[in-house]
Amino acid sequence: MKTHIITYGCQMNEYDTHLVRSELASIGAQFVDSIPEADFVLINTCAVRGKPVEKVRSLLGELRKEKEKRGLMVGMMGCLAQLEEGQQMARKFGVDVLLGPGALTEIGKALEAKSRFWDLSFREELTHHLPPAPQGQLSAFVSIIRGCNHHCTYCIVPTTRGPEVSRHPDLILRELEQLKAAGVLEVTLLGQNVNSYGNDQPGFPKFGQLLRMVGQVGIPRIKFTTSHPVNFTDEVIAAIAETPQVCRYIHLPVQSGSNRVLRRMGREYRREWYLDRIRAIKEAIPDMVLSTDIIVGFPGESEEDFEQTLSLYDEVQYDSAYMFIYSPRPGTPSYKHFQDLPREVKVERLQRLIERQKEWSYKKNQQWVGRTVEVLVRGSAKDEGYAEGHDRGNHPVLIPAAQAPVPGLYQVEVKQATPHMLFGEVVGAQEAATIPLVMA
Ligand code: SAH
Ligand code: SF4
Ligand code: F3S
Repeated sequence: MKTHIITYGCQMNEYDTHLVRSELASIGAQFVDSIPEADFVLINTCAVRGKPVEKVRSLLGELRKEKEKRGLMVGMMGCLAQLEEGQQMARKFGVDVLLGPGALTEIGKALEAKSRFWDLSFREELTHHLPPAPQGQLSAFVSIIRGCNHHCTYCIVPTTRGPEVSRHPDLILRELEQLKAAGVLEVTLLGQNVNSYGNDQPGFPKFGQLLRMVGQVGIPRIKFTTSHPVNFTDEVIAAIAETPQVCRYIHLPVQSGSNRVLRRMGREYRREWYLDRIRAIKEAIPDMVLSTDIIVGFPGESEEDFEQTLSLYDEVQYDSAYMFIYSPRPGTPSYKHFQDLPREVKVERLQRLIERQKEWSYKKNQQWVGRTVEVLVRGSAKDEGYAEGHDRGNHPVLIPAAQAPVPGLYQVEVKQATPHMLFGEVVGAQEAATIPLVMA
């Protein structure tokens, strides 16, 4: 079966694609790079905002035409597949295989079935699954916890991914050992809420303890995403500070700087709590690089509320931010109960926030000029003559290609900075990749 997989959405979806791909490989699937070459097209879908949903809808439309022409098989998996909205699309466009994010381990069975195969259950096998290490990669993801127990009023994720289920620590450590043996130099621990790790399973370590255990494996760089401010305890901060493998980068979504909006969002913390967590982080680790997620134009957000977000931005001084316009999602409480703001208001606020973020990114990036950072070089950059990578603070870094001829870790002195990246020169190679990698 010639298979082509298309992935939308977050890093969790990328990890799930890897998992499904390895299942498919074990039953003899071959992978191809385009739809015309494929007998089976599998879409890993996202439903967090309207845009990714519309992308899937138009892709399914295209695939239906191919299906009519040449009997192509179409599969849909991931978050949208779990929702009524996605299932309606699947019926309309004649999707053959539909797997929710909890049923991915059923992919083999789905392909053996001679008729339409739909599975939307949350299967325990998934948390016990150990996918093989990807080959020829310097960075990899490892899922540590699936699902989400929060109830943010705008968010569809708890519906699509179900309640929190932590993976057994032994399994996580075995997966990390495999990745280390495969030459991986950087691992990102994944979950909708990594710092709730262990809360659902008596006897499991908590997230801080897990970080310390993961550090012991000896992979040089450990990152994690995403954290919820409510569970960002002092113990987590101490574990980060005391585990040198853990990168100096934290993504801590705040969503809004206004207490009124935070309450309507159901975020379970106030602005003051969030700022106290940031203070504790900066106190323990002064060089910490910080990023966040912000939703602008949440229903009922006034100009004053929005200004509170801008002022929080100035207090925290984020290095970068993912900024989203509120997108009403059917099935969420805010969709049902609140009136969406006019689009112009939302767009105008987004533009102001982007401006503010650029100013801070520029100032913060300038502070790195003259310092030496460790860069994980992946390969050639789009800009000719440069290699690209990122440092332990997750800043993108460009280096003259001749100075970093093979992927791996390099010591780099930062010479220049823009709001979006750092430019540097190699002052020493630390660890070249031990796996055969070709510069792209
Ligand atoms: N569990 C993570 C990430 C969830 S989805 C967390 O809580 O941080 C990633 C981001 O998408 C969220 O942080 C939020 O900023 C954004 N998002 C979620 N639902 C949204 C919606 N309905 N409209 C706009 N942005 C949304
Ligand atoms: Fe969604 Fe909130 Fe859960 Fe994040 S914490 S996945 S934003 S419900
Ligand atoms: Fe999208 Fe699901 Fe991730 S909705 S953002 S793919 S958790």
